[in-house]
Order: sequence, then C-alpha cells, then structure tokens
Amino acid sequence: MIAINDIVAASHFFVARHVRPGDTVVDATAGNGHDTLFLAKLTGPGGRVHAFDIQKKALANTRALLEKNGLEQRVSLHLDSHKNMPVHVSGPVRAIMFNLGYLPGGDQELVTVPDDTVAALSGSLGVLAKGGIISVATYSGHQGGSQEEEAVAAWCNGLSPREYTVMKLRVLNKENNPPMLWLIKG
Ligand SMILES: C[S@@+](CC[C@H](N)C(=O)[O-])C[C@H]1O[C@@H](n2cnc3c(N)ncnc32)[C@H](O)[C@@H]1O
Repeated sequence: MIAINDIVAASHFFVARHVRPGDTVVDATAGNGHDTLFLAKLTGPGGRVHAFDIQKKALANTRALLEKNGLEQRVSLHLDSHKNMPVHVSGPVRAIMFNLGYLPGGDQELVTVPDDTVAALSGSLGVLAKGGIISVATYSGHQGGSQEEEAVAAWCNGLSPREYTVMKLRVLNKENNPPMLWLIKG
C-alpha cells in the first residue's frame, strides 16, 4: 500500500511494474541514493544501474548507502550531468528516474535546471527500451522549481501520442506546492 500523497513511492510503484531482474536502468539524479538503491534491488545481481549526479557529495552518499546494503557492484556511478547520459549508457534501458531539485541536506543552490533537464529527457528517449518507463518528480516550491516544472510539462506535451503515453499525478487539495510526478511510457 502506498500513500497517495507520496510522489516518490508512486514513482517506485510504477517503475517496479516495468523492470525485470537483469534489466539496465538509470537514476538520472542520484542524490542521497535512495532511488539508486531501489533500482539496484529491483534489477538484481544480473542487472545494471547507471546513476548520475554533478555533486561528489551526492555520489559519495549514494556509494555509502549501496555499500551498507552490499549492492555497490550492481551500480555504475557517473560524476556527470544527466544530459550526457547517452555518452555513458547504451540502450535498451527499461526505466529512467528523475527526482529533480536539490540534494536533501546539501546546497540548495545546486539544483537541476530546465535546459539540462529537458536535454536529459530528450537524450533518455534515445536509450529507452520499447515499453520502458521514464519517471520525473518535479518540485515547484524552490527557486526556479516552477519554471522547471513548466519546462517538463512543455516537453511532455510535445511527445508524439503515437509513440508515447504520458501521465501526470499531483495531490490537488494541499498547500505548499505539492510535487508532481510525470510518467512517460515508450
Ligand atoms: C532531489 S535530489 C535526488 C534525490 C535522490 N534520487 C535520492 O533518492 O536521494 C536531486 C539531485 O540532482 C542532482 N543534480 C542537479 N543537476 C544535475 C544534473 N545536471 N545531472 C545530474 N544530477 C543533477 C543534485 O546534485 C541532487 O543531488
């Protein structure tokens, strides 16, 4: 059972239904490693997780969490922008997760930015498997967050309905800019 106001749990719910053991998947924003750990468990010993972050601190936190769980062998950590995903990852990739914004507990100035996010989303389409899924959690409460959410919305609206199915989820009746989850199925 997932709480319907928990966007991250909802992203895990949908991603889990598109990934099988042995698959290759991507965490486009490693942060503190919670999504990377989730993906490493999901893909199993024969799978491969590629995790990206532009902050050394984030990748160190992610590595520590993976090591605590004995799963570091399943993950390739990339200290690079997710817009360079196609340089590091070749398809087919069954799931690509974006959890946008800033590193919780870190520098709130170091946030994902619309141009790089949209470039990374476009690059994702080149490696996404047929039937694979992209999840994007957007947060409009911080500086620049609503512009990024608008950029993601515009990008999603531009996707061909013949090739992709797009869904968005948001809690409507809460204050303080509830986050939004975007799901793109290839
Ligand atoms: C909300 S956090 C991610 C949370 C993470 N998925 C977790 O489970 O802990 C967003 C992360 O995106 C990273 N980030 C910002 N710009 C980026 C970029 N261009 N490429 C990759 N990561 C980026 C930030 O450094 C930050 O760690």
